[in-house]
Amino acid sequence: MLCLGIESSCDETALALVEDGRLVEAVLASQADVHALFGGVVPELASREHYRFVGALFDELMRRSGRANAEIDLIAAARGPGLLGSLLVGVAFAKGLALGLGKPFLGVNHLHAHLLAVGLEHELRFPALGLLVSGGHTHLYRMESPWECSLLGRTLDDAAGEAFDKVGKFLGLAYPGGKLMDALARAGTAQPTLFPRPYLDNDNLDFSFSGLKTAATGQAAHLLAGQEWPRPLTDLAYAPQALKDYCASFNLAVVETLCAKTKRALDRNPDLKTLIMAGGVACNSLLRDRISQLMQGRGGEAFIPSGKLCTDNAAMIAHAAWLLGKSGYSHRLSMETIPRGKAIPNDMLSSLC
Ligand code: KG4
Ligand code: ZN
Repeated sequence: MLCLGIESSCDETALALVEDGRLVEAVLASQADVHALFGGVVPELASREHYRFVGALFDELMRRSGRANAEIDLIAAARGPGLLGSLLVGVAFAKGLALGLGKPFLGVNHLHAHLLAVGLEHELRFPALGLLVSGGHTHLYRMESPWECSLLGRTLDDAAGEAFDKVGKFLGLAYPGGKLMDALARAGTAQPTLFPRPYLDNDNLDFSFSGLKTAATGQAAHLLAGQEWPRPLTDLAYAPQALKDYCASFNLAVVETLCAKTKRALDRNPDLKTLIMAGGVACNSLLRDRISQLMQGRGGEAFIPSGKLCTDNAAMIAHAAWLLGKSGYSHRLSMETIPRGKAIPNDMLSSLC
């Protein structure tokens, strides 16, 4: 079954073909440079850029894959959550293609697709604990199967990636700051007690990173007094040691907080021996190490995708579509696109009913 996936929920226009669970080809146009000028994603610009590139990227994908349009069995797009105007471009393109080619259409939950992406690299095992850490989400799920996910906890304010990006912006790091912060942290020495491990003194599985962000930016003036670096900083080579040490301490605080609540979730769900981590922050080197160690220490296993499958990509959309499509699921062309903050309805059609 050849599935086309389209991802346009934020600032990457990405298309991919997945056939029977294997990636065939993928193309991606990043808008990072456009939004970097403004220090964050500008929604109106994002949707215009998606509109500009989606058609040409589709042609390029088909050319590179050597496959004909008529060979596609299922056409899918991320339906949410995300920026509404951006999602609409990918969804409208997918619906139009489905109508024109007479093929089934499917809207994919972007968050589920992130969690299932590692299935392109490893055979997944369920039940599993799902830790989704991205620029917009910090969620813990109990996953019974690819489709049955119950939310155990979530951030009450900033997502983990947002905390990295906001502190990164404050420090003058090029947007989005998470990746560079990770690199700076690796070159620095963390002071474990410098920043708090926020929102652990409770008995829930939720997160709150806004206080940590405030604590970190509040201390920057005296910790980094007299230090100079070019802004926006794009290269670790121009960073003073004090900035690297600061980033190491901040990175450690975020990672240890994520690990503490993850451990708590595992303690409360002792039957879970598998953990799936996903989302852009899952690229973070310290987090990858600590989560893998946590699972090893409990006799379990962590499944973490390679970097290009952690950040937004279309292979994860096509892969999730394949899992659903082979089980007979599709959507009507009247399916609604769902912006961030609204629940995604379970409104798929099943050919088995
Ligand atoms: O999943 P993603 O590509 O987009 C969303 O759906 O949000 O995640 C992007 C986020 C950004 O906040 C970015 O700074 C963060 O992932 N990120 C990282 C790293 N690489 C990307 N954060 C920490 N360490 C990294 N290595
Ligand atoms: Zn994402």
